[in-house]
Amino acid sequence: MLIKNARLVLDNGEEGLRDILVSKGKITEISQEIGIEDAIKKIFRNDTHLVKMEYLDLEGRYLIPGVIDVHVHMRDPGLTHKESVTTGSMSCAKGGVTTFVDMPNTIPATITEEALEEKREIFNNKSYVDYGFHFGGSGDNNSQEIKKVKNVASTKVFLNISTGKMMVESDEILNEIFSSSKIVSVHAEEEMVKKAISLSRKNGNRLYLCHLSLREEIGELIKAKSEGVKVYGEVTPHHLFLNTNHRDENEESKKLLIMKPDLKSSDDNRSLWEALRNGTIDTVGTDHAPHLLSEKMEKTTFGIPGVEHSLEMMLRGVKDGKISMKRLIEVMSGNPAKIFGINNKGKIKVGYDADFVELDMDLERIIKREEVVSKCGWSPYEGMKTGGTVVTTIVRGEIVYKSGNFKNKIGREVEFNG
Ligand code: DOR
Ligand code: ZN
Ligand code: ZN
Repeated sequence: MLIKNARLVLDNGEEGLRDILVSKGKITEISQEIGIEDAIKKIFRNDTHLVKMEYLDLEGRYLIPGVIDVHVHMRDPGLTHKESVTTGSMSCAKGGVTTFVDMPNTIPATITEEALEEKREIFNNKSYVDYGFHFGGSGDNNSQEIKKVKNVASTKVFLNISTGKMMVESDEILNEIFSSSKIVSVHAEEEMVKKAISLSRKNGNRLYLCHLSLREEIGELIKAKSEGVKVYGEVTPHHLFLNTNHRDENEESKKLLIMKPDLKSSDDNRSLWEALRNGTIDTVGTDHAPHLLSEKMEKTTFGIPGVEHSLEMMLRGVKDGKISMKRLIEVMSGNPAKIFGINNKGKIKVGYDADFVELDMDLERIIKREEVVSKCGWSPYEGMKTGGTVVTTIVRGEIVYKSGNFKNKIGREVEFNG
């Protein structure tokens, strides 16, 4: 694959137009000018099985690293009426997410080695984009399983009630789970953030705080970081862009915009943006938690979809001066890869996987329900204007999505060495 005239955010923070050569799914060259003939020679020397070379001229449009979303609930297995690997990964491809990491609150829950292997088989050949798995901590104490399982991003522990019955309450079991895990990701709200931090301080594991939503929680994160606890913070696009005013707008929004942690105030929105800019918060993850419209309307159901619009909404943030393109790339690609040790992803750099998103920053679109490809069929951002549009999504050198069309399900499991 040869990509011409791509606008890149360079290491020094400046932007520049570059040509990029991709061979066997990896970036092999980035330079000011790569001629077509030269590219053909180099590529075919490298990959003798190739019959044609893909050619893209970006004409100055942005090419950014594919988004790595380490917090999604794809509902497979057990809840596939809400979403499946295939529909969820289409939603990712359309949104510029080239790697996602799935959460364990499926049916069965991913809390045994057997359930993880079953999930691996289910995902095989069904995803448009690359993926990995979080393992779950169980209230029945599965620390032996936690020590056994291979190639998972982290142990996910629920310290509050949420969708699925995965809350762990016993301090003794929590201690065992934390001490058996290299990285623990937590659903922890308010006081539980403090508890997760103190468990990690005691057990020495690294800690990933999912979906921070309150100013006070950011305070706890700052304090823990300054004391040397190995802790990272995540924020969701919905906690940045939406607040209780959006939720309380009408009868429908009161039911749709319900999730855990719930939406907070516009003051909290501002604090979260500031923490994301200044490096206190490390990543953006969506907590993609699809539920059907009918389920949301019938009874209180926690969760909203996210992967399809997270990048385009964050581009709104870029346009509105809330975040720079450089920082967006760090928090949506570079840092998630670094924290969880996803090899060779998260950067546009020679030797890295050719996971890219081409953006049209001139095309700002109003998000519409009819256009949603996630099986849940709706979006919390309906009626809002994006800051740009995902034109092409490329996974390891193959186009998986372009201008409304989906190509092949080439996604495979990533490797973690976190
Ligand atoms: O709102 C939520 N929905 N919060 C969670 O922690 C889980 C998620 C889900 O799986 O539906
Ligand atoms: Zn959660
Ligand atoms: Zn979640």
